[in-house]
Amino acid sequence: MPPLLDVRHLTVEFPASDSASSQPLAAVRDLSLTIAPREVLGLVGESGSGKSVTSLALMRLLPPQARIAGELLFANGKGSSRDLLQLPDEGMRTLRGSQMAMIFQEPMTALNPVMRVGEQIAEAVAVHAQVTKKEAWDRAVAVMEDVAIPDAALRARDYPYQLSGGMRQRVMIAMAVVNRPALLIADEPTTALDVTVQAQILQLLAELRSKFGLAMLFISHDLAVVSQVADRIAVMYAGNLVELGSKHDIFHAPAHPYTRGLLNAVPTLKTDRTRPLATIEGTVPAMNVVPPGCPFEPRCDFRVAECACRLPPLLEVSPGHWARCPVVNQV
Ligand SMILES: Nc1ncnc2c1ncn2[C@@H]1O[C@H](COP(=O)(O)OP(=O)(O)O)[C@@H](O)[C@H]1O
Ligand code: SF4
Ligand SMILES: [Mg+2]
Repeated sequence: MPPLLDVRHLTVEFPASDSASSQPLAAVRDLSLTIAPREVLGLVGESGSGKSVTSLALMRLLPPQARIAGELLFANGKGSSRDLLQLPDEGMRTLRGSQMAMIFQEPMTALNPVMRVGEQIAEAVAVHAQVTKKEAWDRAVAVMEDVAIPDAALRARDYPYQLSGGMRQRVMIAMAVVNRPALLIADEPTTALDVTVQAQILQLLAELRSKFGLAMLFISHDLAVVSQVADRIAVMYAGNLVELGSKHDIFHAPAHPYTRGLLNAVPTLKTDRTRPLATIEGTVPAMNVVPPGCPFEPRCDFRVAECACRLPPLLEVSPGHWARCPVVNQV
């Protein structure tokens, strides 16, 4: 089946903000990945690794100073695809909220505080369809029921501040799926929520996926959270894709030292809770100093002299399982 989204060589740079001599900040470097229809791809990496910049590039929501290169091929449902980076602004506005939609960590920043939540969802309907006010409102209430908001017709009249954090995130999800997009981009959608509510939202996303046939790019810094929803997992480090594979590959045969470090930091039932969790020594490198070699080299227990000389290529270590480390994978 051809992919729904085919990202080819995506690179995003921001011009240097301070002295004229410093290099641009390379937030995403030559990133290629695909998402199949109805597939959930998890994107994981420490804070600052380029996950949000990737998602905003896909939605064409980066600030104008961002320099974007590559291709973002999105299927048009008729057997061919178009490059989102080449679409005129008008075409992109039509696509956003209808065929692709996004939810964020903090729904309060995306919701209008002085507008009833039902009206906000109804407005999202009316932007993309010729409907009466009553039809738009009814669709808003129906989608609030789809996302399991109790007493949806009543809650639709609430303002965002009247709802709990979990209910606000459900409203955001309702607004994102009301026009039945093919792709939902979820950027840390549960990070601001407590553990119980987080589990409920993950469950809801899984239900919506099968009910509406949604594909998802699910982003989190937390590998344990990603593993609850994703079919395949992409691992980013310092703007680079360092590993990509099925959930089974990532958890049972991790092929990049950084992924192994992330896995060690995931608590399991066997974790000794009296001891602090393992973390990876060191910090993510500054993104405006692009080292010539492997970006993980300063923190890597497996490094050899060549690691600092050139960026390793992504190698297919088993069918569909790629890793950017020739040392651990001995070629
Ligand atoms: N608008 C911007 N201008 C300049 N730099 C930015 C901007 N947005 C993000 N960055 C930088 O890009 C890098 C990646 O950020 P981000 O994608 O937000 O990371 P993540 O979501 O993985 O935590 C960071 O170094 C961040 O400071
Ligand atoms: S290429 Fe070298 S430094 Fe990079 S992850 Fe592999 S062993 Fe470590
Ligand atoms: Mg982010």
